Amino acid sequence: MALDAQSGALGANPVQRVQLQTGVLTLAMLMLSLACTPLRLLTKWTWPARIRKALGLLAFLYAALHFLVYLFDKGIFNGSFGLQTILTDIVKRPFITVGFGALLLLIPLALTSFKGSVKRLGFQRWTRLHQLVYVAVGLGLLHYWWGVKKDHTSPLIYILVMLALFAARWVWNRRKTGSKRTTPA
Ligand code: HEM
Repeated sequence: MALDAQSGALGANPVQRVQLQTGVLTLAMLMLSLACTPLRLLTKWTWPARIRKALGLLAFLYAALHFLVYLFDKGIFNGSFGLQTILTDIVKRPFITVGFGALLLLIPLALTSFKGSVKRLGFQRWTRLHQLVYVAVGLGLLHYWWGVKKDHTSPLIYILVMLALFAARWVWNRRKTGSKRTTPA
């Protein structure tokens, strides 16, 4: 993006282009991080588990950049728009409200993704907290759907991939509980 900005390849509206790219990258990183566990379970590879945290943190980084671009576009850095205007925009425009909601949910996840957090919170509480990622992805997808004006093919593909990932996890959990029930004590 920086190289494109330098060479003028970001087109007539570079801010909007970067806004769209950082938004799509946030979703892509979130989905890739969610794909790690099903991939590990399916293939028995261990590397997906090792890159999951990095992908989640990248998602948060892109979401923060995406929000910064929004603030920049609103003129907050040159003082032409106040905090009140941003807050009104977040409250009044459902498209922005859900995006902001997704960003807020990612904050505690990013903060507790470091070593020691699982120990401090306890495994069960940590796991429950990190299930918020599904809500964040759901809000992100809704935001994407509402943000696209004409052709909804791309958000639809993301929604289908998300549903497939959910289904894989659900099947795996059912199998696990089923095999526990049939295993003699
Ligand atoms: C996890 C959080 C978020 C995700 C996954 C996300 C994702 C996206 C995606 C995929 C797009 C592209 C839509 C398109 O192609 O038209 C987009 C656009 C946009 N997002 Fe977000 N977003 C998030 C948070 C936010 C937040 C916090 C804000 C601002 C408060 C925001 C404001 C915008 C704006 C203004 C656009 C451009 C719409 C346009 O110009 O057509 N997003 N976002």
